[in-house]
Amino acid sequence: MPQLENRTIWLTGASSGIGEALAHQLARIPCRLAISARRGEVLEKLAAELSAENNTVRPYPLDVTDREAVPATAEKIAADLGPIDILIANAGTYKPDDPARFDAADYDGTMRLNFSGAVYCIEAVLPSMIERRSGYIVGVSSLVGYRGLPRASAYGASKAALINFLEGLRFDLRRHNVRVSVVNPGFVKTPLTDKNDFQMPFLMPVDEAAKVMMKGMRRGKMEIYFPWQLAWIFKLMRVIPYPLYDRLVRGRTGH
Ligand SMILES: NC(=O)c1ccc[n+]([C@@H]2O[C@H](COP(=O)([O-])OP(=O)(O)OC[C@H]3O[C@@H](n4cnc5c(N)ncnc54)[C@H](OP(=O)(O)O)[C@@H]3O)[C@@H](O)[C@H]2O)c1
Repeated sequence: MPQLENRTIWLTGASSGIGEALAHQLARIPCRLAISARRGEVLEKLAAELSAENNTVRPYPLDVTDREAVPATAEKIAADLGPIDILIANAGTYKPDDPARFDAADYDGTMRLNFSGAVYCIEAVLPSMIERRSGYIVGVSSLVGYRGLPRASAYGASKAALINFLEGLRFDLRRHNVRVSVVNPGFVKTPLTDKNDFQMPFLMPVDEAAKVMMKGMRRGKMEIYFPWQLAWIFKLMRVIPYPLYDRLVRGRTGH
């Protein structure tokens, strides 16, 4: 089982939502916590706040889509806090599709952040993990990655890619003693979902989501999913035939 205590943990997307809530959970245990996101001033404030609970929380502002900046940040973290033992690649975003203004640039941007951003971070930490024969990679994807949904073809494709990538990587890294988990949230109340104009079933408070993630990471679960009610609906929807899936989604969403 991966141990979270006394480890160097790098968490991306820590300036709001799930990442911020997880940073609060992680700061309660003895660990060296590096937090990243683009907004440096928000990270500084959060690190100062968390220092009341854990004095080794440091901000490392970073745009994860900047492939050159990512390894430089990872090196700085390792130099300051010791080799990175655990990467939690959480940074991501959702922008609803607008088919009337279809623009491939939107797809590139979503893929670059939600998929490549995680890959770049993994690229930066993996050599040291393999050399030390120890490490834990956690990627935050989404239940939406299971199957196509209306207004989410860019987001869903990026998350499906991430699930598949992490699933494959798990096989390849097992013999190097590097563990891989994928996190698939449903709807969690964060600034990302605050933008949604539809009713979100089983919407979960963010602190609860962070607690489920902590529990799942402690167990080193291959897949950490929540809320369980929505996750099981999505798991069932994943295996039903296309015509039935289409009818159910149209009935529910009106698309
Ligand atoms: N909330 C949900 O219901 C839900 C469901 C399924 C999956 N997820 C996934 O969970 C993760 C966190 O989502 P959230 O709901 O917590 O969203 P959020 O509140 O919008 O937080 C997103 C985080 O990612 C950071 N970020 C965005 N672009 C970045 C970039 N280019 N480089 C580095 N950091 C960047 C943001 O900080 P800056 O703006 O400061 O960079 C922020 O800290 C995402 O991967 C999301 O897809 C969320």
